[in-house]
Amino acid sequence: MAKLKDKVAFLTGAGAGIAKATAKLYAREGAKVVIIELNRETGAVAEREIRDAGGDAIFIETDVTDDASMKRAMEATAARFGGVDILFNCAGGSLQEDVPVHEMDLNIWHHTIQLNLLHPFLSCRYGIPYMMKAGGGVIINLSSHMGLVGSLKPAYAACKGGIVSFTKTLAAQYAPYNIRANAIAPGSVRTERQIKRYENSDWATSEKTSAAARERRALHKNYPFSTGGPEHIAAIGLFLASDDSRMLTGTTIAAEGGRSSYLKVYAADE
Ligand SMILES: NC(=O)c1ccc[n+]([C@@H]2O[C@H](COP(=O)([O-])OP(=O)(O)OC[C@H]3O[C@@H](n4cnc5c(N)ncnc54)[C@H](O)[C@@H]3O)[C@@H](O)[C@H]2O)c1
Repeated sequence: MAKLKDKVAFLTGAGAGIAKATAKLYAREGAKVVIIELNRETGAVAEREIRDAGGDAIFIETDVTDDASMKRAMEATAARFGGVDILFNCAGGSLQEDVPVHEMDLNIWHHTIQLNLLHPFLSCRYGIPYMMKAGGGVIINLSSHMGLVGSLKPAYAACKGGIVSFTKTLAAQYAPYNIRANAIAPGSVRTERQIKRYENSDWATSEKTSAAARERRALHKNYPFSTGGPEHIAAIGLFLASDDSRMLTGTTIAAEGGRSSYLKVYAADE
């Protein structure tokens, strides 16, 4: 039986990557899916692909970092489907310019915070009242393996670490309303963006990048489960959205092959 029959799912960043794969899976499981996306082209394509496969989807062009835009998107969702049952807060990402704090441009800090931390806050701010009215709901926030340990990207790490405690707080505050909140912290997910960024670059040819390539190879040798496809995160997204996870709230699932759980020493010749 479909696990999300007639549920309304609001997925941010669903024109690509993890959220798009999750939107498709949710639609296959009977949900009505709302594609929240800034990119008009990819948002429309995602909507069409889901409909062509027999699912129910609408695309709402939205800037998730903008308060008025998110308010409008949630109101449009409720007008179309009567409310919202699942928030999948996934739009996000880091920038190459996210460098050590004493060198970072302040605009990079603000941009990263708005996209990765303000956005889930706005989604909850406008989505939770509909869930309270309906008698329950589910919130899923995207963290990262870089939110579970320190990393070389201070702004992104601050956001994704913030997601972990924000999610715990949502869980505590809204449990009396039958609303669960959990997070997913992925390792390396081979989305189109990631493939373009890391796999078509000049790494292999420059001195500096070949060291990075070696490090990456060692990482994948030591943590063979730390890389996956968008569909692997979507599967966790389905588990968290459905009643299968009804005893989970306030938790962050580390979908990163153990990178934050154990340390393997790299051999010198790797
Ligand atoms: N891919 C990974 O390896 C990885 C690893 C850890 C965590 N994550 C997290 O998972 C989430 C999804 O990552 P992904 O790789 O699938 O991303 P992606 O880049 O493939 O897709 C992100 C989507 O969000 C949209 N978007 C960007 N800014 C927006 C805005 N202001 N308003 C509305 N939409 C906007 C983009 O247009 C794009 O369609 C992010 O939060 C990311 O930080 C990803």
